[in-house]
Amino acid sequence: MADVSRTALVTGGNRGIGYAVATLLHERGHRVIVAARDGDEARSAAERLGETASGAELDVTDAEAVAKLHATVGGVDILVNNAGVQLDWDEQPTGIDLALVHRTLEVNLLGAWRMAQAFVPDMVRGGWGRVVNVSSGTASFTLGLPGPCPAYSVSKASLNALTVLLARETEGSGVLVNAINPGLVRTRMRPEAQQSPLEAAEHIVRAATLPDDGPSGVFLRRDTVIGW
Ligand SMILES: NC(=O)c1ccc[n+]([C@@H]2O[C@H](COP(=O)([O-])OP(=O)(O)OC[C@H]3O[C@@H](n4cnc5c(N)ncnc54)[C@H](OP(=O)(O)O)[C@@H]3O)[C@@H](O)[C@H]2O)c1
Repeated sequence: MADVSRTALVTGGNRGIGYAVATLLHERGHRVIVAARDGDEARSAAERLGETASGAELDVTDAEAVAKLHATVGGVDILVNNAGVQLDWDEQPTGIDLALVHRTLEVNLLGAWRMAQAFVPDMVRGGWGRVVNVSSGTASFTLGLPGPCPAYSVSKASLNALTVLLARETEGSGVLVNAINPGLVRTRMRPEAQQSPLEAAEHIVRAATLPDDGPSGVFLRRDTVIGW
């Protein structure tokens, strides 16, 4: 059980890593808002978690929906930008359809950016907040941007850049903003992976509940700071 109960919002919380993050945050005594594109799935996921969890319909590409959610729930203490898509595989930068790149950036970069614009200013005013952007090893320049998925890589590398910029903007405010590389996780996105969503969620939840002297503007793999 957490020392202090916080309100956490998890995007893409209906399944995969997002649902596991919502589960662990809830188990640790936090109030959890499970946001998902399909409102019924969001509500049914929240019901499975139990009391102090609620569901909210949210497509992160929809600016009006983000504004409406913010107006409905007010501020949150913890934002986990988990919603993501991987639409490209076995592609090269010169061959890929840019429409697909655009759709990927809309969710993976601009979705998280919209959420930060809506929810981070309240955190700064309140003097406490945690933002975790769920990134990927494919975003890592240190690892050489691995994987034949240029749209996904660029979207997550951009998400990492946004993480640094948000951390700089919120420095000293009590808000910590970090990106995490969860590794390969067995979800609909990566059904062949070994790591379970709950194993990956453990580290995301730690980043989402960092102590006040925790890092901001870093890239984490498990609990270790890694190169961008
Ligand atoms: N699995 C891995 O190995 C792995 C590795 C590195 C990073 N990640 C990242 O981890 C995060 C979670 O992925 P996952 O593995 O759990 O994949 P997943 O099972 O495919 O889940 C993706 C989640 O994102 C939601 N989503 C997609 N587009 C959305 C939108 N426009 N608005 C709101 N929600 C949207 C999906 O909702 P619907 O159910 O409505 O489609 C779903 O809840 C993603 O950011 C992914 O890039 C995953």
